[in-house]
Amino acid sequence: MAPHVLILPFPVQGHINPLLQFAKRLSFKGPKTTLAITTFIINSINIQTDQVSCAPFSDGYDDTGLNGARDNIEAYFESLRTIGSKTFEELIVKQMSSSCPFTCMVYDTFVPWAVEITEKYGLPCVAFSTQSCAVSSIYYHFNHGLLDLPDSGATVSSHGLVPLERFDFPSFTFRDGSYPALAGLSLNQFNAPQKSDWVLFNSFDELENEVIKCLKEHWNARTIGPTVPSKFMDKRIKGDENYTMNLLKPERDLCINWLNKKPANSTVYVSFGSFANLQEEQTQELALGLKQSNKYFLWVVRASEQDKLPRREEFIEGEDKGLIVAWSPQLEILNHVAIGCFLTHCGWNSTLEGLSLGVPMVAVPQWTDQPTNAKYVEDVWGVGVKVKVDEKKVVRRDEISRCIKEVMDAERSEEIRRNARKWKEAAKQALCEGGTSDENLNEFVEFLNASSC
Ligand code: UDX
Repeated sequence: MAPHVLILPFPVQGHINPLLQFAKRLSFKGPKTTLAITTFIINSINIQTDQVSCAPFSDGYDDTGLNGARDNIEAYFESLRTIGSKTFEELIVKQMSSSCPFTCMVYDTFVPWAVEITEKYGLPCVAFSTQSCAVSSIYYHFNHGLLDLPDSGATVSSHGLVPLERFDFPSFTFRDGSYPALAGLSLNQFNAPQKSDWVLFNSFDELENEVIKCLKEHWNARTIGPTVPSKFMDKRIKGDENYTMNLLKPERDLCINWLNKKPANSTVYVSFGSFANLQEEQTQELALGLKQSNKYFLWVVRASEQDKLPRREEFIEGEDKGLIVAWSPQLEILNHVAIGCFLTHCGWNSTLEGLSLGVPMVAVPQWTDQPTNAKYVEDVWGVGVKVKVDEKKVVRRDEISRCIKEVMDAERSEEIRRNARKWKEAAKQALCEGGTSDENLNEFVEFLNASSC
């Protein structure tokens, strides 16, 4: 039987992007791949590819997806688990009686309920984490009582992690009661994998060497990333043409035409990803900090966030100093020669994209895994600086401006740029033929071939 892998992402932008790219790389190496995507997402985007098939299932929110449930995320998760698991099973049943049945399932660790369903049909299940190895390790060890939050002022370093202070931990380890369903999902996402199971990570060995070694004590853990299309890394890998998916329409021409008129390394790109909501006060401080830095800036402010902005004339001097868009083609922007700094919330995709494209970063973490990613950006990989917050947990305009200058102009900026170039090269090498992630993927394909016999 030919290997046919069913791939199930958690249905949001930051999870579909890496799993789609993974599916594409996998199918280029031989196995057929099918991405299971919710009806809303399949109707909202245009994934055009011969390499990866898409199969729809319903999460009960066919008209809106998770975005329509932002006020009641718990209800969405419940619906995804109950309705989603039924319609997902129907999808499996239909395919199993076809001439090309599934032979394995790769599931996002945010949808662990899929394991029980899939195992009924005798399929091996492989976990895929869309977060860093460090964050995955923290969640696993914390939730199994093997890692405690340090006291204020103290650090912990175990399981291959660098010394971490309390505020470097993912926000959900504080169990402060916010977003209980999402906190539960994050904390429990590594309960399903057993000792010998495959667990794949969107990272690469060189980046997280010590942590991945420790994770191998628990699972058959492998890195297969970064899942950034290689065409953006000056080294085309065969079969790896660009397609990410966008739930929002990127204002591509506007962004690129505007950037084309800016000098090299002159512009700050600002984005907080697909989900984070900033407090109004924070948005205003950020706007005034960008003005104070006196740099050009291209800022993604989603439509739902734009009311929080100050009046344009308060923070954009002249016609051309700043551009606000509701969504951008992020990879193309980061790859543009005009960009000299990425002010980011440090979602894992954005962090990996910044690293892989060699862009120095100002880290402004908000919640979930972002504080941990920001810690690694500054202290471990040396590719940026992390902002300091005041007692109200707001980053003030002076601090924004100081950090941008530190990354773009100050003495330290040389070293940051050197590190950024180093990690860009390392990311590229990991993906090239014979690189660590490429070899790991080959090994995984061998497993798929063997288990489909
Ligand atoms: C979420 C979590 O916040 C993040 O911490 C976790 O690791 C993954 O899921 P999100 O907040 O959306 O993701 O951030 P991120 O992981 O950075 O993903 C955003 C994706 O959207 C990136 O691939 C980025 O390239 C893309 N994007 C963002 C665009 O294409 N255009 C934009 O304007 C902004």
